[in-house]
Amino acid sequence: MNNFTYHNSTCIYFGNDQISAIANIPKDKKILVTYGGGSIKKNGVYDQVKSALKDHNWDEFSGIEANPKYATLMLGVAKIKEQKFDYLLAVGGGSVVDGTKFMAAAACFEGDDPWDILSKQSPVLSALPLSCVLTLPATGTESNCGAVVTREHNKLAFMSPFVRPIFAVLDPKTTLSLSPRQSANGVVDAFVHVMEQYMTYPVNAKVQDRFSEGLLLNLIEEGPKVLATPDDLEVRSNIMWTATQALSGILGVGVPQDWASHMIGHELTGNFGIDHARSLSIILPSVMHNQRHLKEAKLLQYAERIFDIKSGSTQDRIDLAISKTIDFFKSMDVPTSLADVSLDAASVETILSSLEAHKMVALGEHGSIDLKQSRAILEYVL
Ligand code: NZQ
Ligand code: ZN
Repeated sequence: MNNFTYHNSTCIYFGNDQISAIANIPKDKKILVTYGGGSIKKNGVYDQVKSALKDHNWDEFSGIEANPKYATLMLGVAKIKEQKFDYLLAVGGGSVVDGTKFMAAAACFEGDDPWDILSKQSPVLSALPLSCVLTLPATGTESNCGAVVTREHNKLAFMSPFVRPIFAVLDPKTTLSLSPRQSANGVVDAFVHVMEQYMTYPVNAKVQDRFSEGLLLNLIEEGPKVLATPDDLEVRSNIMWTATQALSGILGVGVPQDWASHMIGHELTGNFGIDHARSLSIILPSVMHNQRHLKEAKLLQYAERIFDIKSGSTQDRIDLAISKTIDFFKSMDVPTSLADVSLDAASVETILSSLEAHKMVALGEHGSIDLKQSRAILEYVL
C-alpha cells in the first residue's frame, strides 16, 4: 500500500427528515440557496429548506442545468458579489453541487479569469463556505473536493479542499421522485467510481479492495431493485450511502487510480450531450478489455470476488467478468455501445480531437492510454 494522508471533514446528516439540520448554519451568515430546474419544488424539498431556514437571512439562485454551464454559474457569481452572500447551500443533484462549488471558488478568485480554475488548473486559494442537500445519489460530490463544469464543448474538472462541503444532508426520501433513468444513472456512475479506483493493479491494499468489492456488490444487488421497486426506501437508503462512499476519497487512498473511462466519457458528454453515467457504461467495459494485460491480476480478483468466477483460463475468466459487467449495465437499462446512443465512426474522430485538445493523451494508472489506445477503446464499442 502507498503512503497517504486522509481527511474528510464533511459532516453527514443521513436519514429521513434530516433537512431540518440545515438550521444549524450560523444565523449571522447571508445564505444563497442554489438549485436546478425545479425538481425540488415538485418533490417538497424546497418547502422543507424554506421552513428550516425561516430564521435565516437567505435568497436563491436557480437554473443550474445538468452538466452545469460556466455562463450560468458566472451569473450566480455576480449575484454573490453584488449582494455579498457569504454562505452557499446547494440543493439538488451533482450538477447543482458542482456548480455551487465552482461559484464558491470563483467568487473568491483573485486571478483575471475564473475559467482559469478549470482550463489552467489555477490554484484555488480560498472559497466561500458551502453545504448541500443532495437529491440524486451518484457523483459523491457531496463529500469530496471535486467539481465538473462545462463551457461549450469543454467539460473540465477542478479539485480543491476549500470546496469540500461543510455538511451534506442525505435524506433518501428526496430520491423517491427520481426518474428511472436518473436512478439508473446514479447507480452506474457510483459503480464506475469504485472501478476507477479499484480496477488497476494490486498494491496489497486490503481495506481499499474489500471496501470497493462491498460497494460493487451493493450496487449490483440494489441497482436492479431501484428500477423494480422504486418506492422502497431501504433500497434508496443503501444506494445513497453507497454512492457517497464510492467517491468520498476513502477508496482511493494509497492505491493507483485509473479515471480513463471518466476522461473519455467527459468528451462524449461535452460533444454529444450523453448523460455522464451513460458515457461511462459505454466506455468502462472497453477500457477493461483494452487494458486487460496491465489489469490482469485485478480483473481476476474482480471476477472471483464479484461474480464467483473461479475456473477457466485467465483470458476466459476475464472475458466472462467483462461480459457480466455489461450484463449488469444492461439490467440498469443504460447503453453499452456508441450505436446505442446513435453515434458512429465520425464521432470517434471528434472525441479523439477533444481528448487531444484537453491533453488527455496519457490516461490510466500507467499513463498507457494514448490517443491510439483511446481510438481502439472507442472503435471497439462502435
Ligand atoms: O435540475 P433539476 O430540476 O433539479 O433536475 C435534475 C436534473 O435534470 C434531476 N434531479 C435531481 N434530483 C432529483 C431530480 N429529479 C427528480 N427528483 C430528484 N430528487 O436530475 C437531473 C440530473 O441531475 P444532475 O445533477 O445533472 O445529475 P448527477 O447527480 O448525475 O450529476 C452529474 C454531474 O456531476 C458530474 C458530472 O460530470 C455531471 O456534470 N460529476 C461530478 C463528480 C464530482 N464532483 O466528484 C464526479 C462524477 O464523476 C461526475 O463527473
Ligand atoms: Zn462519475
